[in-house]
Amino acid sequence: MEERLQKIISGAGIASRRAAEQMILAGRVSVDGRVVTELGTKWDAALHEIAVDGRPIGRQERRVYFLLNKPKGCLSSAKDGRGRKTVLDLLPEVRARVYPVGRLDYQTEGLLLITNDGALMQGLLHPKYEVEKTYLAKVDGALTEDKLKMLREGVPLEDGMTAPAKVRMLPEKGRFSQVEVTIHEGRNRQVRRMFAAVGCDVRRLERVRFAGLELGELARGRHRELTESELAKLRALAGMADEEGKR
Ligand code: URA
Repeated sequence: MEERLQKIISGAGIASRRAAEQMILAGRVSVDGRVVTELGTKWDAALHEIAVDGRPIGRQERRVYFLLNKPKGCLSSAKDGRGRKTVLDLLPEVRARVYPVGRLDYQTEGLLLITNDGALMQGLLHPKYEVEKTYLAKVDGALTEDKLKMLREGVPLEDGMTAPAKVRMLPEKGRFSQVEVTIHEGRNRQVRRMFAAVGCDVRRLERVRFAGLELGELARGRHRELTESELAKLRALAGMADEEGKR
């Protein structure tokens, strides 16, 4: 099937559509060994060798999208050098080369999106789209109004102030406070560090929402494919809605 060159490159997960266009204009893309700098030429990736910076891109796989309810005690990277269990071990039937979109800590549970759509992944993780993530934190330590205000307005972390967050107290569970926190940044261990900065210890952390997706009734450790409408919403959030019409 013939497709525009920039679409083949973005579909292979190498860059967003716009970045692929820049690569073409910069003379970094070749077809069957000849540099192509014109935008919009159409090729069949199954019949021609398309290369970026001299390296052939892989044949385009069917794009797949899964929502996983990650349990504690597994890594959200694709592979672990030390042989520990990763989230991909929970999707043994998936043959495509998929990756998690962003990370959850080893001990964090909840919603993780897994896909081989590199362009969508880049869009969802790009700071400019401010994609929201909501966490449910079980917290040890009293949460005063002052502390909640700090969490909402921004707390100083070693890598800078956090952006404003939505923070909502839920009914207590035993001696623990339960707090729902929505952030759009994606810094390492951000929620745990935000609570530590106000003197509270997170005992359990679960991501319940990401980019408008919800865990719903999905059991821990289980996964399901996204629906078409979920995918359309994700594309819009990742700034890809305008690209649909060009497909
Ligand atoms: N914030 C954390 O502290 N941990 C996570 O896994 C995700 C967000």
